[in-house]
Amino acid sequence: MSNNKKIYDKGIVFTGLVIFLALITFPFWYNRGIAAPAPEPELTEKAKAAKECVLPADEMKTGHMQLLNDWRNDVVRNADRMYVNEHGKEFNMSLSNECLDCHSSKEDFCDRCHNYASVKPYCWDCHIDNPKEKM
Ligand code: HEC
Ligand code: HEC
Ligand code: HEC
Repeated sequence: MSNNKKIYDKGIVFTGLVIFLALITFPFWYNRGIAAPAPEPELTEKAKAAKECVLPADEMKTGHMQLLNDWRNDVVRNADRMYVNEHGKEFNMSLSNECLDCHSSKEDFCDRCHNYASVKPYCWDCHIDNPKEKM
């Protein structure tokens, strides 16, 4: 019966189409529920030239909030603005004028990690986040 045969063919075509779509979209749905790739904060030329951060990179990665907090306390409570690290290198304890002088693109550096980790530091309500452009 030609009618049934047609329906049967459509069934096969449809099944084939579903399998085909499932296969070509596999990379998309397979990644659902699996963590997105880790963010890659971008170093500026200035940072690359400096080679090192205030503290060793792994300490910065996990402890930069604490360091910033210490800096703020020293500046606000002790009126001390100079920080000397273990190599004797001096830093001006300032979020905008020191951290963002070297890491001058907040977007490509700080934000990459923060968006990934869903943290939104409120510092930028008061502190300038692009000191170079504002000057
Ligand atoms: C003189 C330039 C300079 C200054 C100033 C500076 N950094 Fe860095 N920072 C770097 C460099 C260079 C690296 C990469 C170090 C490495 O990979 O060994 C880095 C790394 C980091 C990292 C780790 C990034 C990663 O890939 O895991 C964080 C977080 C960070 N800095 C935050 C800060 C904060 C916050 C301040 C201010 C308290 C600051 N930095 C000040 C140059 C600087
Ligand atoms: C390597 C990834 C990474 C980079 C780069 C990075 N951060 Fe963070 N930052 C984090 C993570 C993750 C947290 C949350 C940590 C937690 O809650 O323990 C955080 C938290 C903070 C906090 C505390 C916020 C809060 O609400 O508790 C501040 C302030 C902060 N970051 C400032 C900066 C600044 C300024 C820069 C750029 C100069 C920067 N961070 C770059 C990963 C990063
Ligand atoms: C309500 C406004 C406000 C907010 C929000 C704020 N600060 Fe500040 N911060 C100040 C003021 C005012 C000073 C004193 C400025 C000075 O004496 O140079 C200061 C000083 C500092 C300093 C030392 C001086 C400097 O130039 O950076 C650091 C470091 C600092 N804050 C970090 C932070 C961080 C990190 C956050 C977010 C977690 C934050 N602040 C949020 C107002 C604010």
